[in-house]
Amino acid sequence: MRLVLLGSPGVGKGTQAKFISQQFGIPHISTGDILRAAVSAESPLGKQAKQIMNEGGLVPDEIMIPLIEERLQQPDCKKGFLLDGFPRTLEQAKSLDQLLNKHQTPLNFVIQLTVPEEEIINRLSGRRVHPASGRVYHILYNPPQYTGLDDLTNEPLIQRPDDEEDTIRNRLRVYNQQTKPLIQFYSLSSSSSHPHYYEINGSKPVQEVSIDLNNILNREGSKVKQKIH
Ligand code: AP5
Repeated sequence: MRLVLLGSPGVGKGTQAKFISQQFGIPHISTGDILRAAVSAESPLGKQAKQIMNEGGLVPDEIMIPLIEERLQQPDCKKGFLLDGFPRTLEQAKSLDQLLNKHQTPLNFVIQLTVPEEEIINRLSGRRVHPASGRVYHILYNPPQYTGLDDLTNEPLIQRPDDEEDTIRNRLRVYNQQTKPLIQFYSLSSSSSHPHYYEINGSKPVQEVSIDLNNILNREGSKVKQKIH
């Protein structure tokens, strides 16, 4: 199964991606996580991306497209993948189409999560993350067992530098200008991949959003498997 989770910052893409990836045995590819790892490793990519990310801008397509092309060619993607945070511009979406068409592995699903903007500010300002694994918590909505510590490793959780309120507002502006047009691109079937497109209300509690996603993926995913066989 090959799918893209779309939606503004803080809608819950990363949270839900972890469940889907486990349940369907496909890699969760988060471009945000890849970039954050590069920033902590102080690699050339990380040095290019750090300031752009801290200001809430987008890392240029010329960097992001080859990065994802290389990632999708790795063996673990043969059985499918979940993209979280890519594509984010029309240019990225068209390049993804071209790449997947070349390998005759079109996208099966694009799922858009929606949450009102004011709720996004609450979510991101209360978010805490475990940097090594990308596990995500919220101080009120999804707290760890022990305050400030990751449930599995007991390592400290951090607040992302781009989760300051001004930066969140800039990320939302960038999303509205550059990423929102992808809703039309996928819902009107402008994508040559012709994936099934769905919108899900991401404002419900985490478990309920998860059930809604599972209902779609289990129902439609079995049809995808039948077509492949
Ligand atoms: P990225 O890491 O992709 O950030 P994002 O898209 O802004 O998404 P977030 O990680 O902020 O939110 P999410 O939807 O995953 O929400 P989460 O599950 O964490 O990108 C970071 C930066 O990297 C970009 O700004 C850009 O600079 C760069 N970048 C990345 N990809 C790029 C690309 N393709 N091109 C160019 N630049 C790129 O949930 C948020 C909070 O809400 C958590 O605290 C969670 O516990 C809580 N929560 C989740 N679900 C619920 C719920 N149902 N109810 C209540 N709380 C909930």
